Amino acid sequence: MKPQERGPASAGLEALGLKVPVVLAPMAGGAGTPALAAAVSNAGGLGSLGAAYLSPDQITAAMAAVRGATNWPFAVNLFAPQPLPQVGPAAVDAACAELASFHAALRLPPPALPAQLQEDFGAQLAAVLSAPPAVFSFAFGRLAPDHLQALKAAGVLVIGTATGVKEARQLENDGVDAVVAQGAAAGGHRGGWAHDELAGTVALTQAVASAVSIPVIAAGGLMRREDVRAVLRAGASLAQCGTAFLLADEAGTSPAYRAALAQPGRTVLTRAFSGRPARGLHNALIAAVRHPLPYPLQNALTRPLRTAGAAAGQADVLSLWAGEGFAQASQGPAGRLLAALDPSAVQP
Ligand SMILES: Cc1cc2nc3c(=O)[nH]c(=O)nc-3n(C[C@H](O)[C@H](O)[C@H](O)COP(=O)(O)O)c2cc1C
Repeated sequence: MKPQERGPASAGLEALGLKVPVVLAPMAGGAGTPALAAAVSNAGGLGSLGAAYLSPDQITAAMAAVRGATNWPFAVNLFAPQPLPQVGPAAVDAACAELASFHAALRLPPPALPAQLQEDFGAQLAAVLSAPPAVFSFAFGRLAPDHLQALKAAGVLVIGTATGVKEARQLENDGVDAVVAQGAAAGGHRGGWAHDELAGTVALTQAVASAVSIPVIAAGGLMRREDVRAVLRAGASLAQCGTAFLLADEAGTSPAYRAALAQPGRTVLTRAFSGRPARGLHNALIAAVRHPLPYPLQNALTRPLRTAGAAAGQADVLSLWAGEGFAQASQGPAGRLLAALDPSAVQP
């Protein structure tokens, strides 16, 4: 691929020494593992550790596990801190009532909000900074100036997530080094916070690349090398792929989740599991939840159900995050899946 056929590579991106212009999407909640991140980095891409739901000690251990399996750069990803929403008891009761029959079927105690609703972002970031990775990425908002400065002072390349041009411009003004442009087809949570354009990935990449001067990383529905080529031509410097790695040998995708991905089905945007919109395979829990609490309350409320469902192999209560291209996901070692996304490979 000729250099002019893709977006700008900043000195920071160049220093990563990537052989394949593909970032493994961070995938918090089980699908992403240290082994998967290391395998992608070893194969010439940028592995990411989705650490948003990990405690500080778990983050330290997971980063050590990645470092034990690769000497190449990798990224760690967290969710930007959010103000805790205030909700009344009636809203909590309504959200619990919708989950009650699912709890009963799995012989769980009735649904209730736990005392700890989310991890403390400052403590998570401190764990990341105690052994700084080459790259830190984040979603769901903007970073406070002191957090951004602490990352920069540690020499970490910082990547924010935008679902539209306005958010991308704000992130650039804040001083991030690169921005993920997340198209509508993307699996998992919508990563923005202000205005989600829900645009096609190529169109969004073009719009963001012409609006900002930092490198753009395109995400959403990129399943084949042709898709990667298309976003690089549209102005992206890198492609970020999640769903393409869900069936990787090294992924933590549970057997029930893997089986659901192999079935014909459809993805939908839902707030049923976490209170924030996210794309996943449609299932019974999505159909039943009409009054989710705002994030992170619903996320905390549904956690016991998701944990028990995974153990019992019940896909109907799992958050089966997947992008619109899930039917094209392949099994195999992550290195081979990465090679299949390499835009520079010679056409057969
Ligand atoms: C299972 C799963 C979990 C995800 N978790 C995160 C996450 O923790 N942090 C994040 O920034 N993005 C997360 N995403 C979104 C990805 O960063 C990316 O936008 C998406 O995977 C791209 O679309 P694709 O899945 O079609 O490749 C997740 C996506 C999936 C499929």
